Amino acid sequence: MKTIFSGIQPSGILTLGNYLGAMKHFVPLQEEFNCYYCIVDQHAITVPQDPAVLKQNIRRLAALYLAVGLDPNKVTLFIQSEVPAHAKLGWIMLCTSYLGELERMTQFKDKSDGRGESIPGGLLAYPPLMAADILLYDTDFVPVGEDQKQHLELTRDLANRFNSRYGEIFKVPDIRLPETGARIMSLQDGTKKMSKSDANQGGFISMLDDPDTITKKIKRAQTDSDSQVRYDKDEKPAVSNLMTIYSLCSGKSLEEIQAMYEGKGYGAFKTDLAEVVVETLRPIQERYEQLFHTSELDDILSDGARKANEAANRMLHKVEQAMGMARV
Ligand code: TYM
Repeated sequence: MKTIFSGIQPSGILTLGNYLGAMKHFVPLQEEFNCYYCIVDQHAITVPQDPAVLKQNIRRLAALYLAVGLDPNKVTLFIQSEVPAHAKLGWIMLCTSYLGELERMTQFKDKSDGRGESIPGGLLAYPPLMAADILLYDTDFVPVGEDQKQHLELTRDLANRFNSRYGEIFKVPDIRLPETGARIMSLQDGTKKMSKSDANQGGFISMLDDPDTITKKIKRAQTDSDSQVRYDKDEKPAVSNLMTIYSLCSGKSLEEIQAMYEGKGYGAFKTDLAEVVVETLRPIQERYEQLFHTSELDDILSDGARKANEAANRMLHKVEQAMGMARV
């Protein structure tokens, strides 16, 4: 059976972009693959986090993973910091990396922009830790959104570099991008990625937003002056993004949506879109509420950490042996 690994940062409440670009796709994969889904808290601390907020976000993310439909009997759901092999292999991957390639990462450049001398070291070490996450589990495929493509390419480079130095230890993983929704854009700027760290709250829909908030954000979403509901990514990026969200939440094709709103303008389209998004998130939010306070959630995470530790320690041992660091 092939193996899937993916991770999400508990650095805020997840957005509709995280859901449509990544999480939604994790669910069907559990039927076919051996899946590891991780709450990457050590990635979250590459920028300062408030301890109480981080603690809550970790639990929220765990509950959301289950609320979207992941079955703990089928997948291994765990918290990165509860599996120390990630940090250990992360260090080895950092030592396998070159400064130049780490400085070229666009996320590093974006996040370090304007920080002068005070760029957190963790931002630079972030992609090697991500490589470690993936390589520890003999991963075949990594389902992620488009913004992670460069990190995946680095992961492949590091795996190949390590293998050529120490022998065929790592499987070289492939990226798995969704056909649509790999890059959901901000509601306020159709050329910018929807992001949970956007200072403009109107730019993103959080997976836990209530129906009123969702409706308001969609009503205020950017469109353009010609009032046609037509998919054209270059000329009409904002409307095309709303159509993509509509399509992914309703299962209707972009052509069907275009035909439905022919000559109707944006008002009717936005009213229906809000409804479609609210109805997509409603069952997830209900399950989330039920799960958040249960001890079952802790049991699932403990069991996940146990299973992940077993697999990760096996790989770490192989790596350390290959490098001459294990006594046995
Ligand atoms: P993170 O936490 O930023 O995002 C989690 C997942 O959501 C996807 N995503 C999007 N997809 C479409 N449109 C968007 N606007 C959008 N925003 C986010 C991301 O591509 C991602 O799949 N570095 C990773 C976490 C990570 C990881 C890993 C992922 C750490 N180790 C190992 C895979 C494998 C990150 O910051 O994702």
